[in-house]
Amino acid sequence: MKRKAMMAGNWKMHMTISEACKLAEDVAQQCKKYDDREVLLAPAYTALSDVAAAIREDDIIVCSQNVCWEEKGAFTGEISPVMIKDAGGSAAIIGHSERRQIFGESDQLINRRLQGALNFDLLGVLCIGETLEEREAGKTFEVLETQVREALAGVEAGQMGNVVLAYEPVWAIGTGKTASKEQAQEAHAFIRQLIANIYEKNIAEQTRILYGGSVKPTNVDELMAQPDIDGALVGGAALDADSFGRIINFEQAG
Ligand code: PGA
Repeated sequence: MKRKAMMAGNWKMHMTISEACKLAEDVAQQCKKYDDREVLLAPAYTALSDVAAAIREDDIIVCSQNVCWEEKGAFTGEISPVMIKDAGGSAAIIGHSERRQIFGESDQLINRRLQGALNFDLLGVLCIGETLEEREAGKTFEVLETQVREALAGVEAGQMGNVVLAYEPVWAIGTGKTASKEQAQEAHAFIRQLIANIYEKNIAEQTRILYGGSVKPTNVDELMAQPDIDGALVGGAALDADSFGRIINFEQAG
C-alpha cells in the first residue's frame, strides 16, 4: 500500500503575521477531505501561533522551520520544541539546505536537532540533498548516505514513525530547475534502501520521503506518480494559495 502523501509548504522568511494567516486560511479552503494525503504549513516563527489559531478547525499540520534540542536555556536565536508545541505546532523542518549552506549547520548539529524534535514528540521533517558540484562529481549517493546516516545516528527504530525525509537537491531549490522524475525517483529509491539497511525493510516501507526543489502545479502530478515519492516540500509555489492548492490536489496516477 502506498504511504499517505504529505504536501508541505515551507514559507521560509516570507509573510507578516496577517499575510500568513490569510494565506493559511486560503490554503485551508483548498484542502479537500482526503484520506490519502495530509497538508503541512511552515510559517516563520513570528506567525506560528496565529496561523495555528487561524486554521485550528482544519486538518493541517503546523510546522516550525527549525528546532533546538533543549526545552529552554541560553540559546539565543533558537526556538525550543516546547515553544513550538505551545504555539500550536507539531512538527519541525530540520537540516534544510539553506540552514546547511547559509548558516553552516553540520550533520552533527542536525542530528541533535532531530533528536530534540523526537524527544518532544514533534514530527521531524529531515531535509537532505546534494549540491550541483557533488552531483556532477558523481557523489550524489555518497553525500545522501552520509547525511542520512549522520542525521539518524541514535534515532531508534521506534522513533522512525515521527520522521519524514525530504530529498531536496540543492541545485533544484528556488532555481526553477526540477530534478527529472527519473532523477528524483532514483534518489528516493536509494534513500529508502538506505533506511532498510539502517533499520529494516518494514520501516523503510512506512517512511515517507518527500521531494523538494521547484515543485510546481505543472510538475507535481508526474513527480507524485513515482513509486518512492510520497509528497512534496514546496517553497516558492507554496506562497500562493491557488498554486499550492493545485499541488495539494495533485492528480493521482492510474
Ligand atoms: P522551492 O523551495 O520550491 O522554492 O524550490 C523548496 C524548498 O526549499 O523547500
